[in-house]
Amino acid sequence: MSLRGIILAGGKGTRLGELTRVTNKLLLPVGPLPMIYYPLKKLVGAGITEILLVSGTEHIGDFVELLGSGREHGCSLTYLVQDEAGGIAQALGLAERFCAGTPCMVILGDNIFEHSISSLAIGAMNENDALVVLKRVADPKRYGVAQWESGKILSIEEKPEKPKDNFAVTGIYIYPPDVFEVVKTLKPSARGELEITDVNNHYLQQNRLRCRVMNGYWTDAGTPESLAEANRLVTENPPRF
Ligand code: G1P
Repeated sequence: MSLRGIILAGGKGTRLGELTRVTNKLLLPVGPLPMIYYPLKKLVGAGITEILLVSGTEHIGDFVELLGSGREHGCSLTYLVQDEAGGIAQALGLAERFCAGTPCMVILGDNIFEHSISSLAIGAMNENDALVVLKRVADPKRYGVAQWESGKILSIEEKPEKPKDNFAVTGIYIYPPDVFEVVKTLKPSARGELEITDVNNHYLQQNRLRCRVMNGYWTDAGTPESLAEANRLVTENPPRF
């Protein structure tokens, strides 16, 4: 079974202040490339060539101008507009027709990581489980945090005040076709968004959530500090696609 790829490129990028006043975070440079190239090249490198990009009304045209049909990148790109920012899970919910009953690999566009994701994609074949990828971090409060013990996730909390562990849930996920039914059951969180952590907790409760721990570096690039860190990492050690 093949996987469809989804890059989530919405959001206002408010944590980046002036940098995202007139553009989308994923159009900012990371090393020699616009940020969007990293998730795109990762998916294509993993053999995923049917890719959907979801973004807001303001900048979707810029992505079309930059990436076109995807031909230059060895993939076929579809673009979808998220009318208003309602959270990661809400953006994912828009991809139901695109996936058409096929499992999907979802990447948050600001996640920059070193290693190829080919092995994740291969491992997902013929499975009906969801998969999250964990990474030990120094500042778990900024992320979804998994409490992890002997290869098993016990709980996931979104940006907890008092993290029970220091494993961040990175922004790379694989979901089975019923993820869209799960999204339809979600209620907005305290910050008014449909949370991807609630989707992951749904699969955890059903005992259908698998996890992997990521090797190599990983960072998001959604704050000035993490954007600078992403630039440093890719310059010193270019990622493998
Ligand atoms: C999102 C998710 C969070 C995850 C993070 C990874 O947070 O909600 O669970 O750990 O991405 O980058 P955001 O960066 O949108 O606040």
